[in-house]
Amino acid sequence: MASINDASADRYELREFHPGTDDQGAPDSRTKPWMDAVGLGFHEPTESDEAAARMVAHMVADQETFLGVYVRQPAPGSVDETWPAGTFTWFRKALSWGDGTAIDTQAVSAVTVRPTERRRGVLRRMMTHALERGVAEGYAMASLTASEGTIYRRFGFGCAIRERAVRVRRARALPFLAPTTGVVTMVPTRWLADGVGRDVFDRFHARTPGSMVRNTGTWPIVFGEIGRDGQKAKDVRAAVHRPDGSDEVDGYVTWRVVEGKTGEDTRVEVVDLVYVTDEAYLSLWEFLLSIDLNDVVVYDRSRLDDPIVAAVADNRAFDVDHEEDHVWLRVLDVAAVLESRPYAVDGSLTLAVTDALGHASGTYRLDVREARGTVTRLADDADAAGSDIALDVADLGAVLIGSVSPQTLAAAGLLRAADEAAPVLLRAMLTPPRTPHGVTYF
Ligand SMILES: CC(C)(COP(=O)(O)OP(=O)(O)OC[C@H]1O[C@@H](n2cnc3c(N)ncnc32)[C@H](O)[C@@H]1OP(=O)(O)O)[C@@H](O)C(=O)NCCC(=O)NCCS
Repeated sequence: MASINDASADRYELREFHPGTDDQGAPDSRTKPWMDAVGLGFHEPTESDEAAARMVAHMVADQETFLGVYVRQPAPGSVDETWPAGTFTWFRKALSWGDGTAIDTQAVSAVTVRPTERRRGVLRRMMTHALERGVAEGYAMASLTASEGTIYRRFGFGCAIRERAVRVRRARALPFLAPTTGVVTMVPTRWLADGVGRDVFDRFHARTPGSMVRNTGTWPIVFGEIGRDGQKAKDVRAAVHRPDGSDEVDGYVTWRVVEGKTGEDTRVEVVDLVYVTDEAYLSLWEFLLSIDLNDVVVYDRSRLDDPIVAAVADNRAFDVDHEEDHVWLRVLDVAAVLESRPYAVDGSLTLAVTDALGHASGTYRLDVREARGTVTRLADDADAAGSDIALDVADLGAVLIGSVSPQTLAAAGLLRAADEAAPVLLRAMLTPPRTPHGVTYF
């Protein structure tokens, strides 16, 4: 593999730093141009001073490590004089296995390359550097959510969990086929933000495979404290669910109503829906569907196999508008990752893992006894012929949470097994405690 873009190695300088503030709390002289470059990459408007101060405080709180790739000899007057041409950040983010245990991941975000500098290896340079740093910092796995589906496989990331944008038509959804339980109450968003919402999320996270801890900056948005424009949100409402006879909140939802133009549906748009029990999820949906003066409830974070399809009176009230990749995982240390997760079935398999960047390459034996795995590294290279299963590290990342079946990847020609019983066994071993559901973007 060519090193960090030989052709243009002289053109750029890679700098690693932590976000910081001046004594007024504003982003410091390295951080502000980096933030401006990210805004440009994602076509976001330049934020106000107040929003910039809030954002940098959140990034400092999350202990982010920034990468900036700077043009060494910028054209006079160009933004390259101060802005990096490439941006990248990473920070610690726990991924839940759904049984109360979790694994820390090196969460990657804010990946941008200025349009004038694209396809010169800037991303490859940042990613290669970051993953090497991740290994040095002791991460067994990296993670990201992507803006495009084709960028990250080449770096060993596999899509481990998908999500759906769904709409449920009110007129045909109620009554639910089975009665719901508990009590739904509307609350001020502030009340949710003051502690109850975070507590509910913590309990959701512990029981939900694929859940990832949220960025500090996510909370004010999902609680309706700040709107999409960075200003105080004025249109977000909140409700909570409690089980019958209990004071303890076990689920919450925040939403806004968006009036349709002539001929369009008026929509209840779910901002955040977090639940500790299936009963809370069902009841909060029933509540959303009962809000008058609108046509549909839309929800962008629906899991595959959403129980609402089965719950509604007419299953055709439920429509999928769109489905796409959500969390991508990149294994850096095969043994550490496989020994961290729970297993549904005992068994032994040998896995030959290829990795173009080398971090995870090797042949491994996974022995599962009483739901815990032990991994023995048998060889430094991937011995496909001598193994039960041969796969790329990206596909190992894809099957990890248990949402993507090894049998499906075998059918797709990605995972190879001499005996088709091997992917069946791996699938059974990786069966998660409940349906994976990710509600965190980063
Ligand atoms: C995606 C982006 C970061 C790529 O940066 P880049 O510096 O042009 O990428 P590189 O030149 O390092 O290319 C690295 C590899 O990725 C490939 N690649 C780059 N962008 C790609 C894209 N959008 N789709 C598919 N492949 C892409 C290149 O072909 C190259 O492949 P190779 O190394 O196997 O030959 C850049 O186009 C960008 O900033 N896009 C807008 C913001 C964005 O989408 N960010 C991603 C957030 S998740």
